[in-house]
Amino acid sequence: MTDHSTPITIAVDGYSSSGKSTMARRLAATIGYRYIDSGAMYRAVTLYALDHGMIAPDGTPDTDAITAALPDIHIDFEVQPDGSPQHTMLNGVDVESEIRRLRVSNAVSPVAAIPQVRRALVEKQKAFGAGGGIVMDGRDIGTVVFPDARLKIFVDASPETRAQRRFKELMEKGAAVSYEDVLANVVHRDKIDTTRADSPLRKAEDAVVLDNSHMTVEEQDAWLLNLFNKIISE
Ligand code: DC
Repeated sequence: MTDHSTPITIAVDGYSSSGKSTMARRLAATIGYRYIDSGAMYRAVTLYALDHGMIAPDGTPDTDAITAALPDIHIDFEVQPDGSPQHTMLNGVDVESEIRRLRVSNAVSPVAAIPQVRRALVEKQKAFGAGGGIVMDGRDIGTVVFPDARLKIFVDASPETRAQRRFKELMEKGAAVSYEDVLANVVHRDKIDTTRADSPLRKAEDAVVLDNSHMTVEEQDAWLLNLFNKIISE
């Protein structure tokens, strides 16, 4: 019998724009856990690398330069006083909107494939989750960061559904992008994320799969909360 007061660790993995961040963040808020968006950490390193000329115009990252800069890259999350989602901080500067731009989205997967970058960020992610009571989303959370997580979810949805969601989000922010470009970015990132040598995106054996292509956010919330309640009452 589990002690209900003991906070557990929840890992949510899945493809880009699968809605995993939304569901992870909303669950964390409902159950009073901390939420960490591990993708934001890879995006922050990528932004730093772009701003310091460490990524060639063809998108190839300068692995040595980025590795050498890792001790100078400090990433944190700042809770917002109005209760809105926390913001990603890079060396004390709020980069939340900057890291969501297509400029970063287009460059992030090769940076996230660098083993030294992964090692540094995984270490930090483990530290964030040390006491439990955390919901973290990403690509390797259930397989590498928290292989012993009590609850693991793997979120799936078709590339077209995911591109459509991302496109809608970007349009709402006033970005001048085409659906075709967004779809191409989603497909390209899937390929790099699933085929990289170090910690490729894959479902942990003990993860529960959710295909949310035809689910509303509310249906997703209910499904996840139900699963969480079941696990903690076991
Ligand atoms: O979830 P996202 O789209 O913000 O992730 C950005 C990139 O970082 C994406 O290319 C996958 C990579 N990533 C990763 O390799 N491992 C994680 N735990 C999270 C994200």
